Amino acid sequence: MSAPTRPSQGTGVFSPTRADVLERTLRTDKWWLPTLWTNLGFAAFVIYATVRAFMGHWLQWYWVADYHYLTPFYSPCVSTGCVAEASHFGQFLPNVWWLPFAAITLPFLLAFRLTCYYYRKAYYRSVWQSPPACAVAEPHPGYTGETRLPLIIQNAHRYFFYVTLIISVINTYDAILAFHSPSGFGFGLGNVILVVNVILLWIYTLSCHSCRHIVGGRLKHFSKHPVRYWFWTQVSFLNTRHMQWAWITLGTLMLTDFYIMLVSSGAMNDLRFVG
Ligand code: FES
Repeated sequence: MSAPTRPSQGTGVFSPTRADVLERTLRTDKWWLPTLWTNLGFAAFVIYATVRAFMGHWLQWYWVADYHYLTPFYSPCVSTGCVAEASHFGQFLPNVWWLPFAAITLPFLLAFRLTCYYYRKAYYRSVWQSPPACAVAEPHPGYTGETRLPLIIQNAHRYFFYVTLIISVINTYDAILAFHSPSGFGFGLGNVILVVNVILLWIYTLSCHSCRHIVGGRLKHFSKHPVRYWFWTQVSFLNTRHMQWAWITLGTLMLTDFYIMLVSSGAMNDLRFVG
């Protein structure tokens, strides 16, 4: 008996490894809406972050001298173009227009987010349309997974996680140094924003899937590793909301930076509680 023949291809998009369906999709709901929102969210962050990362070459709206507020987009500020007081870790990068002042950390933060398991799902669907939604055909004829360049770099996520841990410590250090006023100790609304931002960044970082594997993976018996088990349950708890932390921290990063820009530029005064 001869094997059944595949139906002829119509106007749909086909892959040799996937079922042939004549229509691109049979879904009648607004399956494209989440994709659209995701793209808009990413575009807003990328445009904002790019403008802000390079703006410091012309406007010093990243540092509030009176209160020692430093925006996370410029931390650590290691360019010779940085305001000297904002450079807590020295100045060793050349001051050239195409190099952000925090160019030593920004690429790692970008790589950490780009290789994040949640963001992968989001941009594979929304940007690459691969596929754009469940039961909607993708425009690509083949699928090679993350087995060759450039996508094989996704497997380095845990190493970007290690670097991001260090950067989170630096952000925490910045937030502590910011309890400052011209007369010594002080704090204001900027401190609240910086501290909330850094706590949320820690939550997002520690809710990472790689972190979960690092603290609880490769064990045969949790009963013999109670400390690691405890950490694993905490990370697992955070991990259930990893998508939310991913989006919330994009928002709080922009809000924190925006607030510091407003205060630094003189557009508004910081609301001071002490000092
Ligand atoms: S999986 Fe999202 S940060 Fe690691």
